[in-house]
Amino acid sequence: MSQSESARIHINAKRVISPISPLLFSGFAEHMGRCIYEGIYDPASAQADENGLRRDVLAALRELNFRSMRYPGGNFLSGYHWEDGIGPRAQRPRRRELAWQSIETNQFGTDEFLSFCREIGTEPMLGVNMGTGTIQDAANLVEYCNAPTGSQYADKRAANGNPDPYGVTYWCLGNEMDGPWQIGHLNAVDYGKKAREAAKLMRLHDDSISLVLCGSSGPAMPSYPEWDRVALELCWEQVDYHSMHYYAENTSDDTPSFLAISAHLEEFVDALAGVLRYVKAKTRSKRDVYLSWDEWNVWYKARERADMRGDWTEAPHLIEEVYNLEDALVVATWLNVFLRKADVLKIACLAQIVNVIAPLLTRGDVLLKQSIYYPLLHFSRLAKGNSLDVLVESPRYETAQFGDMPLLDASSAHDAANGTNSLFLVNRSLRDELALEIHWQDQTPRAFRAAHQLAGSDPKAHNSWQDPNRVMTRSIPVPRVADGVAQLVLPPLSFTALEATL
Ligand code: AHR
Repeated sequence: MSQSESARIHINAKRVISPISPLLFSGFAEHMGRCIYEGIYDPASAQADENGLRRDVLAALRELNFRSMRYPGGNFLSGYHWEDGIGPRAQRPRRRELAWQSIETNQFGTDEFLSFCREIGTEPMLGVNMGTGTIQDAANLVEYCNAPTGSQYADKRAANGNPDPYGVTYWCLGNEMDGPWQIGHLNAVDYGKKAREAAKLMRLHDDSISLVLCGSSGPAMPSYPEWDRVALELCWEQVDYHSMHYYAENTSDDTPSFLAISAHLEEFVDALAGVLRYVKAKTRSKRDVYLSWDEWNVWYKARERADMRGDWTEAPHLIEEVYNLEDALVVATWLNVFLRKADVLKIACLAQIVNVIAPLLTRGDVLLKQSIYYPLLHFSRLAKGNSLDVLVESPRYETAQFGDMPLLDASSAHDAANGTNSLFLVNRSLRDELALEIHWQDQTPRAFRAAHQLAGSDPKAHNSWQDPNRVMTRSIPVPRVADGVAQLVLPPLSFTALEATL
């Protein structure tokens, strides 16, 4: 290790990108593999509470403080009939679940999910099936959740023990409907028309809801970004958010490029932001539609065909990705992207929350926190108030995929109400320390009150049942602030979260 490089950042609380939407720190729970069963809901476990929810998982999810939770899919959504999952458990059907070729017992459904959301203090974000489902099914689900009693579906809810409406605000109009793999896949025009009519009926039940339209399931789709334009033109007046999905991968084992993937992620956001501006202008609309990055994570190691087929069993082990240090650093840079794009990006749901491509793994009655847990934790706690446009002066390095990239990746949040300024810093160098100077151009903080750091020399290091704390954040001594400047040294392959008091 050598300290050959130095960088500077300049912070100015007046250089505001946007207030940070708390919904950027949201999650996604799908009926897939062991996310619901053996993850959230595990009545046979010693960890189960009186509702069958795992106490250890609930506690970890509360720490991560997910502001909203997308459910029940994912590809699962497009074959799901929500009425299978309500009412007396003994009468719920066992179904062959086609998306993941598993057996779905329906022992966990809408009411259980909504009570789980209350348990962890998160806003539900429910999907309606735009594959095998009809616009009537979608409207009925809104009635079931949000209408006062006195009509068929609202009365069913009451009969199932919930007389008061749930008041679900966020609704997704299907999942990845652009994908040929999707059950009931549609082209953009057919999807746009169906989504628009579903939205109309849903809003007739409750016009206070917010709706998320399916965007492209990724920038590599042949129909991207035309799908987005067409669907948005058909639905602009009916929807509030447009979804984007992306899974980062390092299949070529090129860590320098992988750590620089934020370049690609920012391009994806910028392109869709352009589509939003175009459609707003073309439709002569006064309203705005924002982006919802409602599936994002690293996912490539557990992505073989066998990882995605349940062989018609209950709660199979599907896509249980093991996360290492480099994955956690990519997650940290991705969260930096969310802050830097906070003007157009208002929702982001980590896919997923437990067992399935997740920060948490369960085995029997025990729980493991994976490396990506830590950046999520610190951002979710500290990224509040306004996102600032940080001026970064950093040495650069060459990557095979993205050309010349800065070694330092940074974002900052300024929370005037709570008197804090937070900084999130990633040193992408594999070998070199980076000496950093932080310069405040207007309001200099009095002092740092905490500094958390995730670092290591092996990008492939990961936590395991044998070694559960190998990759985790540790507290480091806080840097001193003097004359509007603070100095610290960022180790190679590191993420640092700093919290200052104004
Ligand atoms: O999160 C896993 C899967 O990835 C989701 O079901 C689907 O929407 C996406 O392709």
